[in-house]
Amino acid sequence: MPTITLVREGRTLEVPPNAILRTALLDAGVEVYRSPDDLVNCRGNGLCGTCVVEVEPAEAVSGVTFREKGQLWKYGDRPMRLSCQAKVIADCRVFTRPQLTQGWMGHPFYAHLKEGVGKGPAREKSDYRA
Ligand code: FES
Repeated sequence: MPTITLVREGRTLEVPPNAILRTALLDAGVEVYRSPDDLVNCRGNGLCGTCVVEVEPAEAVSGVTFREKGQLWKYGDRPMRLSCQAKVIADCRVFTRPQLTQGWMGHPFYAHLKEGVGKGPAREKSDYRA
């Protein structure tokens, strides 16, 4: 049984050989998608690219599919995979939601926004005046 080490979550999972990575992660309650992709995605058909994860070593999962080639080119040489297309063959390390570390989504202010939206106290109209 291959073991998946989840870097972001700090835990491990044992999965049956050839388990679909996305299914294994979702079944274990792991957040595969960043918000709002958890609501709007292609449900594992390899079309939207939102279930992307970083997998090391690359040989621990099945080969890159045709659908993945159309989605993963933008990540360059990083060992990215669409979790809905990758089957787990051997022990591996998986970094979920790698998009959160790229570009503006890796900025601390984005984390602040994500935490605060809809949860903060109501503001007075005067708070918005400079
Ligand atoms: S869920 Fe859409 S590409 Fe994997």
